[in-house]
Amino acid sequence: MIMFQVNRELKKRIKLNGICPYYTMFPLEFPYSILRRYALKGEWVFDPFCGRGTTNYASQILGLPSLGIDSSPVAVAISEAKLTNTSPNLILKAAKEILENFQEPKDVPIGEFWNWAYDANVLRIICRLREGLIKDCHSDDRKALRGILLGALHGPKVKSYPSYLSNQSLRTYAPKPNYAVNFWKKRNLHPESVDVLKLIQIRADRYFSEEKEIAEGKIIKGDSRDTNTYYNINQKFRWVITSPPYYGMKTYIPDQWLRMWFLGGKSTVDYSMEGQLEHPSPELFAMQLNQVWKNVAMVCVPDSTLIIRFGSINDRKVDPLQILYNSLENSGWKVKKVESAGCASAGKRQALYVTTSVDEALEEYDVWAEWNG
Ligand SMILES: C[S@@+](CC[C@H](N)C(=O)[O-])C[C@H]1O[C@@H](n2cnc3c(N)ncnc32)[C@H](O)[C@@H]1O
Repeated sequence: MIMFQVNRELKKRIKLNGICPYYTMFPLEFPYSILRRYALKGEWVFDPFCGRGTTNYASQILGLPSLGIDSSPVAVAISEAKLTNTSPNLILKAAKEILENFQEPKDVPIGEFWNWAYDANVLRIICRLREGLIKDCHSDDRKALRGILLGALHGPKVKSYPSYLSNQSLRTYAPKPNYAVNFWKKRNLHPESVDVLKLIQIRADRYFSEEKEIAEGKIIKGDSRDTNTYYNINQKFRWVITSPPYYGMKTYIPDQWLRMWFLGGKSTVDYSMEGQLEHPSPELFAMQLNQVWKNVAMVCVPDSTLIIRFGSINDRKVDPLQILYNSLENSGWKVKKVESAGCASAGKRQALYVTTSVDEALEEYDVWAEWNG
């Protein structure tokens, strides 16, 4: 009976976890089931590669305080949206307030891509909202609005009411401009006029209607290799559940270039790797991870547990477990057990996005380690 209720709670809350797709993620059930089983009330949870905030959101659902770090502004904005205390009415009010204050957008991107990607009026409204949110995104209502708009920025056309702002597109990552323009031209696909406020209302109702208890939660934009990122962290963590980029996976920023633009970035593909792990060789990759694990130990209580989901991608034939073991050596963390997390499949795992067929599915692992202080 208790199990049933818990699962119903997860079902009710799972929608918000999908507010905006992100290139890679682990399923909400993964951190949720570990924390539900083992974590005690008041214990802090941490994810130094929080991505779209799955660990933080699982903690939130269970009433556990949490902190996340990610160097991608998109990841930070999505994670923050999930930790808000707001409602559909407040979100819509925030959108209307911005549109009232920003009647004329200062900066509307021009060029073939933008003409084909968005209806001209829709683009102007997006730009007004963008400018308002860049100026001030401190309240929970605005953070939730920003998450909704990031999730709606590009995606497929559906036959019923439009649920994305763009011309036909993928939702997970942004198309490269030349490819996209050719695609649209060839198929004579034109962007539709979308009622932006209505779309916000529909999405706010979908994601933010549930009343919920809010546990403390914070996301830091930073580089988890850098000890400076940890200086202002006052909490001590008992649980760390994380998944670093797999070796060779380095397109987090360019693949999210449209969302990066919405958050204040440039209106062309951003190929920078700022704050991202580098992938020159498995050895150097492991050394960077080693620094992260050492940093993480600094902010953990003795006897804390670190659970790392890790695997590999197809175009880099490496042994993911060996990389992870190397990274944990002399970090203070002792490996306690290794479990298979199964094979990347069905949109749930990191490797899917570079794995084209089921035959090529690659095994992923959960490595449990302890730090004894
Ligand atoms: C596999 S994803 C994490 C996905 C996350 N578990 C989820 O469910 O959404 C890895 C994340 O690490 C971030 N990242 C890469 N290098 C980083 C660094 N040096 N510091 C902080 N974050 C970094 C990437 O931006 C990406 O969001």
